Amino acid sequence: MTGKIAFLPGDGVGPEVAEAARRVMMRAGEIFGLAMTFEEFDFGGAAIDRHGDPLPAKTLNACLNAQAVFLGAVGGPQWEKGGPRPETGLLALRKNLGVFANLRPIRVMPGKESLSPLKDDVARGADILIIRELTGGLYFGDKVEGDESASDNCAYTREEVTRIAKIAFEAARARRGRVTSVDKANVMATSRLWRAAVIALHEAEYGDVELEHVLVDAMAMKLIQHPAQFDVVLTENLFGDILSDEASVIAGSIGLAPSASLGEGVRGLYEPIHGSAPDIAGLDKANPVGAILSGAMLLRFSLNAEGAARAIECAVEETIKLGFGTRDIGGADSCSEFAGRVAAALAR
Ligand code: NAD
Ligand code: IPM
Ligand code: MN
Repeated sequence: MTGKIAFLPGDGVGPEVAEAARRVMMRAGEIFGLAMTFEEFDFGGAAIDRHGDPLPAKTLNACLNAQAVFLGAVGGPQWEKGGPRPETGLLALRKNLGVFANLRPIRVMPGKESLSPLKDDVARGADILIIRELTGGLYFGDKVEGDESASDNCAYTREEVTRIAKIAFEAARARRGRVTSVDKANVMATSRLWRAAVIALHEAEYGDVELEHVLVDAMAMKLIQHPAQFDVVLTENLFGDILSDEASVIAGSIGLAPSASLGEGVRGLYEPIHGSAPDIAGLDKANPVGAILSGAMLLRFSLNAEGAARAIECAVEETIKLGFGTRDIGGADSCSEFAGRVAAALAR
């Protein structure tokens, strides 16, 4: 079976980190004998410039017919002056692919605690899997956009909460058996439904998993106070967006954090959690680790190639432990140089 991958480089540093990830995935494919094809499509701001639409029908159809979609990043100041926005294309892509479960692993590398802005003792051992609901909540509710008033509607159904909670409990069973569900149940109706649905599923099917509930404001604090206490963190769309950027820095840089977005089948959308980083775009300075590790997740979840995925993760860790890296983690490599080192480490 050929792994057909729709490749969407996007905007800003997107093409730089996506190319780095493609290079590493292709090398892993050679070593592990995996058949993979990458076909590139316009997406985001680049697609607005060429077609007036951030998600052209050709791109969407290709994504729907692929086994996996790999995305760099979208957005930038040139598309913030009115007219269609690149981010709209990303939300539409996630919705159309039905990828409601966004997995964002964050791990402080043993021996590399010094990369963290936190004290070594605080950062040590942090290994968190954030599971962010990705196709509901404020992002997708009705919007009213006016000059004098505006609103965004936050809505969740019990079914939407239950299906993402199931993913979190299953993930916890394969890890350290703990789920922290984050909400704002002291204020928001959607959070009260969220909490009730998580508790009901826990009582019915997952009594063996330890479950706690933390309000999102306290969670923002606890994450940096004692990150190693958390295993799986389950939360809704907007809270997950914010907490994952915060958590990424515990490991050293947002450029290190990968993600996988999954739905019912094996098809997935894979992208680093960072954005198009306009301040460093075009300079070959971006950290490609988040993109490369997203490639490893693609091999694991959509192509059933666990060995190749593990090999990429080990090659990244080995390369960083040797002291190499981009500037954001204190190294001197360019994006492409670092990718070359990881590709070379794979063969060893
Ligand atoms: P950002 O993540 O692009 O950048 C935030 C900061 O982190 C910047 O200082 C940037 O230089 C740095 N950074 C980001 N990625 C890095 C990397 N790989 N290596 C080193 N440093 C890195 O967030 P922003 O500046 O708020 O957003 C810029 C644009 O990206 C906006 O248009 C936003 O909508 C978009 N965005 C897109 C995605 C996505 O495509 N998935 C995600 C987040 C933001
Ligand atoms: C992310 C991004 C997106 C989000 C934006 C660009 C729509 O911040 O993937 O984290 O908010 O989901
Ligand atoms: Mn984000």
